[in-house]
Amino acid sequence: MDASVEIAGVTFRNPVVVASSPLTRSYKHIAKCIRHGAGGAVTKTITYDPMQRVQPKPRMHVVNPKDALAGRFYSFYSVDLMSELEPLAWARELAEARREIGDQGVLVASIAGRTYEEWEKLASLMQEAGADMLELNLSCPHIEEGGLMGKAASYDAETVSNVVKAVKRSASIPVAGKLTPQGANPVLLARTMASSGIDALVSTARFQGLLIDVESGKPAFWPCFGGYGGPWQVPISVAWTAHIAMEKLGKPIVGSGGISTWRDAASFILAGASAVQVCTSAMAKGYGVITEIERGIESWLGSKGFGSVEEAVGLALKGVVALEKLERAKAYRVEVDEAKCTKCGVCEKTCPYGAVTLGEKISVDWDACDNCNLCASLCPADAMVLSKI
Ligand SMILES: Cc1cc2nc3c(=O)[nH]c(=O)nc-3n(C[C@H](O)[C@H](O)[C@H](O)COP(=O)(O)O)c2cc1C
Repeated sequence: MDASVEIAGVTFRNPVVVASSPLTRSYKHIAKCIRHGAGGAVTKTITYDPMQRVQPKPRMHVVNPKDALAGRFYSFYSVDLMSELEPLAWARELAEARREIGDQGVLVASIAGRTYEEWEKLASLMQEAGADMLELNLSCPHIEEGGLMGKAASYDAETVSNVVKAVKRSASIPVAGKLTPQGANPVLLARTMASSGIDALVSTARFQGLLIDVESGKPAFWPCFGGYGGPWQVPISVAWTAHIAMEKLGKPIVGSGGISTWRDAASFILAGASAVQVCTSAMAKGYGVITEIERGIESWLGSKGFGSVEEAVGLALKGVVALEKLERAKAYRVEVDEAKCTKCGVCEKTCPYGAVTLGEKISVDWDACDNCNLCASLCPADAMVLSKI
């Protein structure tokens, strides 16, 4: 199966890319991503700001770690800054990375400048060093004092537009713009980036969180806001991806935000992404996740009869309609599987219409039932099903 994809003229051998993070913090790490099957890797963000190069300690916390290891929902809370390596060192790392990976993986340099001049300088330096593509880190609203980096360039459409134009002036390799879902409207920013000359869009980075220790009454772990994400983020970022795809901006989208399984990755593709980025799940479970997602995507494409990734891109959007067009007729009966029912009473307690009664067995008053599906969805024993009349 040929799972290769083309993003802004650059060919990736498959659509799974490792996102900018500690997983890509040096050429050795990038080579490890490619060895584990990634089609490309985005460097940890490269900047001239020396403040960004010394990491806070501690800076990473997994909420519900047992769930992370068991494949259930968890959250990753962190205040990881940018790359510890300065730009000139990164120019050498990129050359080493190229030597290590040959033509097996695409090298994307993530950059962030404090001024327009720095954005331009970083772009041309990384292009000369051999990056195949640039990614603009316009997605870190947690950085408060970085000039045009972080907050200042995350929400403001005019600044975003100027950054894109500045970088496009100084680099001829394709440029991807990374969108934040935090406090911004990614659709508006995607439009701004597209009209300013961006070549691809990354939808989206993480949110911002603040964990509070209610015993001490203080922020937990560290006294500032941090990045907050996890597998629960998938439907939110998929929705942004779908909205952006429906804008038909003519720019390929790289889907991102919470991906931890091939099913998550496939959702992004069906919602309009041509490739995906993975970070948190590999941080929490190791680089093997990249291999699992990549293999899973390939076998899903094969099993569905797709000849290429491109054939699957955006297919689900054909089934998306406006809320107003939804079916309103009451057309279902709730069927209770007595063999499965444990009489736990969740359905009776939670039915908003008072339609469920727990006696000897569960009875559902069809006149009162409004076919809302809450009981079937909540039932821990999967004993309730809505069947079409
Ligand atoms: C520990 C950590 C460090 C990160 N560092 C960067 C970074 O330097 N630059 C950047 O653009 N994004 C950074 N990110 C964001 C990721 O690249 C990615 O956009 C985000 O986490 C959403 O994808 P995910 O849900 O697969 O992690 C970081 C994320 C984490 C968890």
